[in-house]
Formats: sequence, C-alpha cells, structure tokens
Amino acid sequence: MGISQVNLIPPRHGGNIREEARRIGVRTEQLLDASASIVPFTPPRAIHNCLVQTLSNNSLRHYPDSTHLRFREAISNWHKVPPDMVLPGNGASELFTWAARYAATKGLNGLPSPGFADYVRALECWNASYRHLPLPLTWNTEVPQAFPLSPTTDVLWITNPHNPTGQLWSKKSIEPLINNHAFVICDEAFIPLVPNGERESLIPLVSKYSNLIVIRSLTKLFALPGLRLGYAIGSPQILETWSKCRDPWPLNALAIAAGTKLMSDGSGLDRWITRVQRWVSKEGAWLHTQLEKIPEITPLPSSTNFLLIKSNSSLIYLREKIAKKNILLRDCRSFVELGESYLRISLQTRRDNQRIIKALRENIK
Ligand SMILES: Cc1ncc(COP(=O)(O)O)c(C=O)c1O
Repeated sequence: MGISQVNLIPPRHGGNIREEARRIGVRTEQLLDASASIVPFTPPRAIHNCLVQTLSNNSLRHYPDSTHLRFREAISNWHKVPPDMVLPGNGASELFTWAARYAATKGLNGLPSPGFADYVRALECWNASYRHLPLPLTWNTEVPQAFPLSPTTDVLWITNPHNPTGQLWSKKSIEPLINNHAFVICDEAFIPLVPNGERESLIPLVSKYSNLIVIRSLTKLFALPGLRLGYAIGSPQILETWSKCRDPWPLNALAIAAGTKLMSDGSGLDRWITRVQRWVSKEGAWLHTQLEKIPEITPLPSSTNFLLIKSNSSLIYLREKIAKKNILLRDCRSFVELGESYLRISLQTRRDNQRIIKALRENIK
C-alpha cells in the first residue's frame, strides 16, 4: 500500500509502530515514533542486568510469584502506603479493565473528553454505562490548572496530567469531587514525568477516601511499554475484588523482577525522575517555542511530555507527508472532539525534536 493512501481508519492510540512501518514500507528501526509518549532514554542499565540475570537463573522454569509480594512492598515503600493498598498490573491498561468492572456496578461513568480511549474499551467489556464530559478546548499556561468540570455522574475517571491535552489538574480542585462520586479512578500514568507533578498526586488521599483508586504506569517513565508494568493504589477491599477475577499470573517473572528492581532503588528512582523532569522542562519549552514560529499551526500549552498542535484546516495530509520522512505524529481523529485539525507530538531528544520541526516547516503549505 502506498504512503499516498491516507490511513482511513484512525488509530485508537499512538505507538502502532509495526503497522505504520508496514504501511509506509520501511523497517520499524527507521521510524521516529512521536505518536506514543515514551521517554526517549535507554531504560536504566540495572534493568537490562536484572532481566539477563532472571533469564540465566532459571526463573522462567517456575510460575511467577502470584502474590507479587516483593514488588508490592517496593511500591508501598516508595509511595508510603501499606502493601495491601497496592496491586501490580500487567500495565495500567490491565488495571483499567478491573477498575471498569467495579465501576460498572456503581452506575453511570463520566469520562472527561477528549480523553484516553482505553477507558471506553474497558467499560464496554462490562457493558458499563458511560457519558463523555466535554472539556473546554482552550486553556492557559497555568500549571496546575483547576479541573474545569463539576460532574454529576456516579463514577468519575480522571487522567492527571490529562491525555491528550497535557493539562495537570490541581489536587485542590479534584479532592472536593471525590465525595460526590461512588467511585473515582485517577490515572496518573504521566504524573512522575511532570516537574512538580507529584504535588498534585491523589496517592496521599487514598487512605482518606475508600472510593478512590489511583493507577500508575511504569511504561512511559522508564521507556518499557513492551514489559507491561503498572500498579493500582487504593482500598484493599476494592483491590481484593479485582484480584479474585484476574488470571492467576497476570505479570510474568521478567516483569516482576524488573519492576521490583526499579521500585526498590529509591535513590536510583530519584535520579531517574529528576533527569526525566529536566528533559520535559527543557525540551517542552524548546519545542513549544519552535512550533509557535511555524505558520498555520498553534501549539497548545502542556505540562508533560506531549503536546497538541491545532490548525484551522485538516492536518491529516501533513501527518502523511511527515510520515514519508519516517516521523510518526499522533493522528487525533479518534478523539472525536478534536478530529482532523489536531495532531499530538511527544517530546524526543533535542536532535529528534529538531527533525520534527524541520519536517513540519518543510511540509506546511
Ligand atoms: C493516560 C494513559 N494511561 C495509561 C496508559 C497505558 O499505560 P500502560 O502501558 O501501563 O498500560 C496510557 C498509554 O498510552 C495513557 O496514555
């Protein structure tokens, strides 16, 4: 299939690197993927060593530890919550499935939109009822921002920082909503990447509100989407109901070993997070300034490692022309409220950000 043929079915998420490589007719290694928002660093060396060691000490010969005890303890120490309030998952996405199963029993689910499509996937698995809650499509540069909605649904799904807009919601504006809902899920997949983001985390509130669950992912922060690692923090009674339904070994031995290694090394975590947040501040500001200089597109303010650009006309053909340069940007047609006139770009190293700017400059009419 030729590249001139635009992808007719918009992808539901970024990072479809293998399909895109096939469609464009290149090898995956040739693509710069700015459609998925993954930190562009090589994962910590300790992870490589840990995976090699796990393979060489015959660990795959046995079933993995289905209690994830050491991993849970490491997460509980890092976040200063009791171990029974922690449930590791096969990526955050697996935990959304269980959150949705529980949420389906609580009534109408509210999804701030445009938003991350996986919540809909998870809710539809259980025939849950849900409603999109439209977010205003203009916002200022303030970080954090007041959550702009006053939802009246039974369940509320919050993404902090929000995907795809990159807005960081203030804890102060979210906390009053918790008691108004039977159940609140807060997806903090990107919060550790945001400078000062942890101040807005709801994790310190999980002991106060038994109807609140926070979900985290190690995918973005450590550039490990292929390993599948995430965790939920919240009421042991709710997490217990999720555990009962899962398959007995949702995390494999390699993922458990790597996750335990990562979360046990507090000073290593501090150093990594500082490095990532410095990169987000520096490259986020640089990319935004460069994008502002390009005619026809406007970058929108973001607190995190991706940002939206918008135009008065469709950007789909621009995305295709850029794909010809082996650069993938996130098609936003699957976010119905955004459509063709938006693209999402995730931050890269300076060299690759320069490549993105050059490709945009050269291909904009
Ligand atoms: C907001 C948000 N939460 C969670 C995820 C998925 O995380 P994981 O890879 O841990 O399943 C994504 C992936 O794009 C995301 O954008």
